[in-house]
Amino acid sequence: MSECDPSQPTSAQHDDAAIIEISQLRTQFGDTVVHENLDLRIDAGEIVSLVGGSGSGKTVLLRQMLGLNRPAAGTVRVFGEDINRIGSERLQALRTRWGMLFQHGALFSALTVFDNVAQPLRELRVLPKDVVRDVALLKLQMAGIGPEHARKMPADLSGGMIKRVALARALALDPDLVFLDEPTAGLDPNASESFVDLIRELHDEMKLTVVMVTHDLDTLFALSSRVAVLADKHIIAYCAPDKVVEFKHPFIETFFRGERGQRAFEALPEQQEKREDA
Ligand SMILES: Nc1ncnc2c1ncn2[C@@H]1O[C@H](COP(=O)(O)OP(=O)(O)O)[C@@H](O)[C@H]1O
Ligand SMILES: [Mg+2]
Repeated sequence: MSECDPSQPTSAQHDDAAIIEISQLRTQFGDTVVHENLDLRIDAGEIVSLVGGSGSGKTVLLRQMLGLNRPAAGTVRVFGEDINRIGSERLQALRTRWGMLFQHGALFSALTVFDNVAQPLRELRVLPKDVVRDVALLKLQMAGIGPEHARKMPADLSGGMIKRVALARALALDPDLVFLDEPTAGLDPNASESFVDLIRELHDEMKLTVVMVTHDLDTLFALSSRVAVLADKHIIAYCAPDKVVEFKHPFIETFFRGERGQRAFEALPEQQEKREDA
């Protein structure tokens, strides 16, 4: 059995470490089956990258982890709760424990930068105004956005800044878990690299668990503790980036063995050490 086999338990596995446990998931739209017999378990403190072809069901899978899409069969447990069985009040409480950065930034275009980040805090309806202000400005600062940008509208921001503001909003409620759907897509290499540094810093400081969909191999190799590969309607391989590239599957070969993939792989510190040892 390969160590990339998704059913293989890792040495770190014990039940209270699981933040997300998906079991025998089936997703269907009309006659189209998107996921079948899909299993995936994500432990506390991991940064898991989810990769798969276009239309393979990555975004739908994230939405199912958020309780926004209901699977046709199977269970999705987040923080130990079966999110399709709990009532709306419990789901609402769980929602304060995670943050989501949607694929297209998804800021409210009619709200200022500040109001976008303040919105989840205001929705709690318990925080006084000055606390909302301080927390929103702090989260913006953590995401690398100074107070001078707080009154700007999303339309006046660069792509990299929109992602940062969206991240500040995802972090507004001090979540234990963040979901990022293609966080560096559409960014230039510099903006993308500084976004990666930011995610890494926040992960280290806040002990976040991160689940991210990405096509960007530099981001994937720089951040992932494990890579989950979605192909043939389920997770076919789930292991560290330097192992997953060696897993034999046509999708993996196409995805990683291209020129860019090879370059990102060679830049891994372990690969550089290997070369120095040789
Ligand atoms: N609400 C929906 N109704 C019908 N089909 C959907 C819906 N959401 C997603 N799909 C279909 O499910 C498949 C997976 O979509 P998606 O998760 O967005 O793929 P991707 O891996 O590119 O993120 C696609 O074929 C898409 O058309
Ligand atoms: Mg998608």
